[in-house]
Amino acid sequence: MLGIESSCDETAAAVVKNGRVVLSDVISSQIDIHKLFGGVVPEVASRNHTLKINEVVSEALANAGLKFTDIDAIAVTYGAGLQGALLVGVSSAKAYSYALDIPLIAVNHIQAHIAANFIAYPDLEPPFIAIVASGGHTSIIDVSGYNDYKSLGATVDDAIGEAFDKAARFMGLPYPGGPHIDALAKKGQPTIEFYKHKPTVNQDFSLSYSGLKTAVVNYIHNQKQKGIELNKEDISASLNKAAVDILVDTAIVAAKKHNRKNMVLAGGVAANSYLRSSLESVCTSNGITLYAPPLRLCTDNAVMVASRGYFAIKDGLELSDLTLNATSSLRPDSCLYKK
Ligand code: KG4
Ligand code: ZN
Repeated sequence: MLGIESSCDETAAAVVKNGRVVLSDVISSQIDIHKLFGGVVPEVASRNHTLKINEVVSEALANAGLKFTDIDAIAVTYGAGLQGALLVGVSSAKAYSYALDIPLIAVNHIQAHIAANFIAYPDLEPPFIAIVASGGHTSIIDVSGYNDYKSLGATVDDAIGEAFDKAARFMGLPYPGGPHIDALAKKGQPTIEFYKHKPTVNQDFSLSYSGLKTAVVNYIHNQKQKGIELNKEDISASLNKAAVDILVDTAIVAAKKHNRKNMVLAGGVAANSYLRSSLESVCTSNGITLYAPPLRLCTDNAVMVASRGYFAIKDGLELSDLTLNATSSLRPDSCLYKK
C-alpha cells in the first residue's frame, strides 16, 4: 500500500505491507517555511506540496526497494485539512491510481492518526477508546472495529494543539509552539490558575479550549502591561496542566462508560510528555492499558494513512474513483466506505 498525506504542512509518502509493516516512510516538512509567518499559510502550503509530492513518492518507493508496478493500492488523505493542500495529495493519488490501474482508497486523517498505533503495536486490535489530539482536532472516539468509528465527544471550539500554538506565539516562541510549551513546562510549576472554575467532565464528552487560550493570552498581555517579565516556564506548566487534565478526565469517563479496557492516544499532541505520563498513570489506576505511538508516528506522516487504507480494503469496503474530491471539514467518524 502506498500512502500519501498532504493535509497540512507535511508532504509525506510511505509504503506499508499488510497495514502493519513499514517498508518506507518519507516526510518533507514545511515547518521552516511556515515558521517565518508564525503559522501555516494555506496557499504557501499547497504550492510547496505541489513542488514536493512527486519527489516524495519516488523516494518512498526507492527506500522500499520497489517499483511502481509492485504497488497494489494507493491510500490518500482526503480530509480533514486545508482544502488546497489536500487537493495536491488527492490529485496525485488519483493520477497514480489511474496510470497504474490500481485501487484508490480515501482516508480520513483522524482515523489515520489512530492507525499509527497499529504500526507501533503489532498486537493491538479494536475495540478501544481513542483520543485524537492535534493542531486541528481534539476528539474522543470509540473504535469498535477496524472500520467502525464513533465520535463520543470533541472540542466545540479550538483544538488543544491550536491553544498551545497560539499561546506560544504570544510568548514569542517559534511555530509550532506545542513542543516548546512541553519543554518549558518541565522546568516550571503549574502555579497560575487560568480557569476561574476548574472544568468538570461534560456529559456529552465535549471539550473547549478557546476560553483557556484567551485566558493565557490575557494573562500575558497583563504581565507585559505591568512590565513584569514573563515566567514562560510557569505559564507553560499551568497551560499544559489545565489543557491536559480535562482531556484525560473526559477520556477516562468515556472509556469506563463504554466498558473499554484499552485506550489509544494519537495526533501531534500525543507527543506531549505530561499528557503521556498523566494518562499512563490514570489508565493504570483504572485497569486500562494505554497505547501511545512513538514520537515519530504522532505528527503527520503517510505510514498511518497507508495502514488505515489497508484495513478498509481488507474488509472489502467500497473504493474511491476519479471523482474523489478533498473535503476540508470531515467528522472524525465519517468515511466514504460502504459495506
Ligand atoms: O497531528 P499534527 O502533526 O497536525 C495536525 O493534524 O494538526 O499535530 C500538530 C500539533 C501542533 O499543534 C503542535 O504544536 C502539536 O501538535 N505538538 C505538541 C507537541 N508536539 C507537537 N503539542 C504539545 N506537546 C508536544 N510535545
Ligand atoms: Zn494530523
